Amino acid sequence: MQAPLPPVPPPQTVPPAAIARTIVDARNVTLTYQTADKPVYALSDVSLKINKGDFISLIGPSGCGKTTLMRTIADLEQPTSGEIIVNGMTPEAARLKRAYGYVFQAPALYPWRSVERNVTLPLEIMGMPAAERQQRARDHLEMVGLAGFEKKFPWQLSGGMQQRVSIARALAFEPDLLLMDEPFGALDEITRDHLNLQLTRLWLQTQKTCIFVTHSIAEAVFLSTRIVVMSPRPGKILDVIDCEQHLPRERTLDIRETPEFAHIAQRVREGLMEGHSYDD
Ligand SMILES: Nc1ncnc2c1ncn2[C@@H]1O[C@H](COP(=O)(O)OP(=O)(O)OP(=O)(O)O)[C@@H](O)[C@H]1O
Ligand SMILES: [Mg+2]
Repeated sequence: MQAPLPPVPPPQTVPPAAIARTIVDARNVTLTYQTADKPVYALSDVSLKINKGDFISLIGPSGCGKTTLMRTIADLEQPTSGEIIVNGMTPEAARLKRAYGYVFQAPALYPWRSVERNVTLPLEIMGMPAAERQQRARDHLEMVGLAGFEKKFPWQLSGGMQQRVSIARALAFEPDLLLMDEPFGALDEITRDHLNLQLTRLWLQTQKTCIFVTHSIAEAVFLSTRIVVMSPRPGKILDVIDCEQHLPRERTLDIRETPEFAHIAQRVREGLMEGHSYDD
């Protein structure tokens, strides 16, 4: 007698919510700066898709075009060729709709405004009523662990606290996309660990899409869903590493001791070494 055939599985359907929404779609982006003496080739043929909820780190040698790529996404630079779509719009339309928040390497806070009034500044410019913007600022300062510091001035805070104020400011107008350019580069390792942990919790809680520039391999592996390794100038994408294949989305600092973490870090290191060149 023949064994019964196994039942036919039902056809696989993908629920709409599971279909990744593309937040940034860079297509063959090249950017050349025209300078007085000679052109500077900053980006070469960069194509990258970033999905909703992704945490993408850009890592690469100094001068390889990481800031240029972020600035192009934010409509602060124009590609020489190729195109970028942000949230289904041109970067300019996205900027006008305030689709992104930008955290610069230096906190860039106004020393004469209190912490709270630094966070409310973009909301003031947007024309939000005073009571609402104060509430927004308070909520977001609490989110970054700075409740109680609203009335202090930036110069009364440590560097790490100032950086958290600038993150609160970028989050306060609730952008879909958060661009962070080496926000923790100037901080000591312990403070950086602490902020990495806070940032990963914040990201899980708010479900924002983040693009993060760093020179630290450990920071990139700890924070990211995907790591984009770039070559020396003109910046090209050498490797895109999917960290979520090996690490859970929710992470604590001890994950850095695991073999999976070391394996990803090694791959990033190899990519950086492979792309390294000493001629310029
Ligand atoms: N406005 C500009 N005009 C001319 N050249 C520029 C301009 N901005 C950046 N560059 C050049 O473009 C290249 C890429 O610069 P970019 O700031 O994007 O690098 P980066 O990867 O962010 O470097 P770092 O890690 O040091 O911050 C560099 O060679 C830089 O000198
Ligand atoms: Mg830079």
